[in-house]
Amino acid sequence: MCGIVGYIGESQAAPILLDGLSKLEYRGYDSAGIAVFDGGQINMSKAKGRLKVLSELTHDGATLPGTLGIGHTRWATHGAPSDINSHPHFNESKSIAVVHNGIIENYIKIKKMLEAKGYKFVSDTDTEVVVHLLDYYYKGNALEAITKVMHRVEGSYALGILFAEEPDKLYAVRKDSPLIVGKSENGNVIASDVPAVLKYTRDVYFIDNEEIAIISKEDLKFYNVYEEEIQKESVKIEWDVEAAEKGGYEHFMLKEMHEQPKAVADTLNPRLKDGKIVIDELNMTEEEINAVKKIMIVACGSAYHTGVTAKYVLEGLARIPVEVDVASEFRYRNPILEEGTLVIIISQSGETADSLAALRMAKEMGSKVLAIVNVVGSSIAREADSVLYTWAGPEIAVATTKAYSAQLIAHYLLALKFAEVRGTVSEDELKDYIEDLKRIPEQIELLLGNREKIQKFANRYVAAKDVFFIGRGIDYAISLEGSLKLKEISYIHSEAYAAGELKHGTISLIEDGTLVVALVTQEELYKKTISNIVEVKTRGAFVLAVTNAGNTEIEKASDYSIYIPKTNKYFTNSLAVIPLQLFSYYISIGRGCDVDKPRNLAKSVTVE
Ligand code: G6P
Repeated sequence: MCGIVGYIGESQAAPILLDGLSKLEYRGYDSAGIAVFDGGQINMSKAKGRLKVLSELTHDGATLPGTLGIGHTRWATHGAPSDINSHPHFNESKSIAVVHNGIIENYIKIKKMLEAKGYKFVSDTDTEVVVHLLDYYYKGNALEAITKVMHRVEGSYALGILFAEEPDKLYAVRKDSPLIVGKSENGNVIASDVPAVLKYTRDVYFIDNEEIAIISKEDLKFYNVYEEEIQKESVKIEWDVEAAEKGGYEHFMLKEMHEQPKAVADTLNPRLKDGKIVIDELNMTEEEINAVKKIMIVACGSAYHTGVTAKYVLEGLARIPVEVDVASEFRYRNPILEEGTLVIIISQSGETADSLAALRMAKEMGSKVLAIVNVVGSSIAREADSVLYTWAGPEIAVATTKAYSAQLIAHYLLALKFAEVRGTVSEDELKDYIEDLKRIPEQIELLLGNREKIQKFANRYVAAKDVFFIGRGIDYAISLEGSLKLKEISYIHSEAYAAGELKHGTISLIEDGTLVVALVTQEELYKKTISNIVEVKTRGAFVLAVTNAGNTEIEKASDYSIYIPKTNKYFTNSLAVIPLQLFSYYISIGRGCDVDKPRNLAKSVTVE
């Protein structure tokens, strides 16, 4: 989704803006632009395509002098990717420039109103109404104009604004789209996300909904929509700069896959104390845990897939009924949330528009909401009743790996805590589960060490047209993630199917040589899945099986097998997902795809 940056200080703004935008590339974009005030007027450069096109156009920013500016990477929603639709957008006299992330839902109505008053629009974007509306309301007081616009527009927005008549101020506004302000000795910055400011500062202010920041070289002031000044506390960001850089790896995805043992250990260790699971952040008494009648898990994308795994784990260990839904469905299906329902929202970014809307709806309906989130201080983290953070650190590659793995751990911890309190596992069983948990980081390490074998296999399937992932129970949940990873970054059509359901449709697609990846980690289901493997092999499929160490029986039924180290049946996803991630990664490389920034996708989906 769109990325915003802004700078005001003593240094030349343009190179800082370009650098900040490069840190937001992971969000997904199709064009970029910057606007800088040069002391007399606002100058702008924007271009369709990758950031390097803009860098070349501006000679790495050299052609745009000035120490105050805003920048933007655009992920097109209204209006095709083009130079003209790129941000920033100007008013007619070029005295106001705006960058926007979000969607102005009532832009057609406002556009008609403004056109009737003689305003001329040059782009197809919803954003352009904001700049003309600012022009319409601006009578020498920028704050007043901004609040008037906020009262008028509907939808979501994070805005960075320059007024040529107020050359020592940068304005930032937010409603339902992320925006932060960073304060540093060498000037102040705004950005959509933390990686863009880390180089300059760790002291960050999270702008809340319907708040405005007025930023000068030395000073920050915050206001609400009634123009009243408000006080805000800064948050110290603990991530180190290197965590947001590639650090010698060819791609962020490869680096982040290798960071999984650490992400898992960091999420796990603080919650293990004296052989017990302690989750203080849960904010739930034993009575409250015992009173949970149902869990409703809501999320999008890979986070939804960890939710599907969590259903099996929570139901199996804690014996609580669990329902899982994708946020975009949940929020519009008039769901039933009876008393005693705990709602869990899972999100890496903490900013996914549908997940945030689902959270708000669940709260309005009276449910307690627990968020499992990676980005500290994000909207979902701040609005939930309690937050269980995954400590995966910044994740840059669009396709999630380490945040996914950390989310699984958060669910295991939750399930075991609930199981302990509700007495559905014995003390000895709990001890064994905790020992298994502690082994996961080194087991992941072991699997990552085996990457060459997977790379060789992947090289054979670089030209595949269709790939099918099958499994039963938790293996089905792993299949969903394996299939998504592959299609996200390699653009190969792939589907995940519950193995038992195969014969009700998908099996008609199996032909000679079709690759079927069979997940076979659930011991009590081995035989059932092996029957399904035989069914596809009979129709010509080539079967890659991912199974537990020791299950050598599989070699008779499949064509190629990958073994994962031994763990209990609930935690196999944490291990089986590793070869699937590596498989997708190497296929993507083999096909020459942009692994970290796959076409059309965005890391943080802040529009619905
Ligand atoms: C996008 C990303 C996925 C991610 C999903 C949910 O589609 O490309 O990798 O799983 O959003 O994002 P969240 O930040 O809520 O986990």
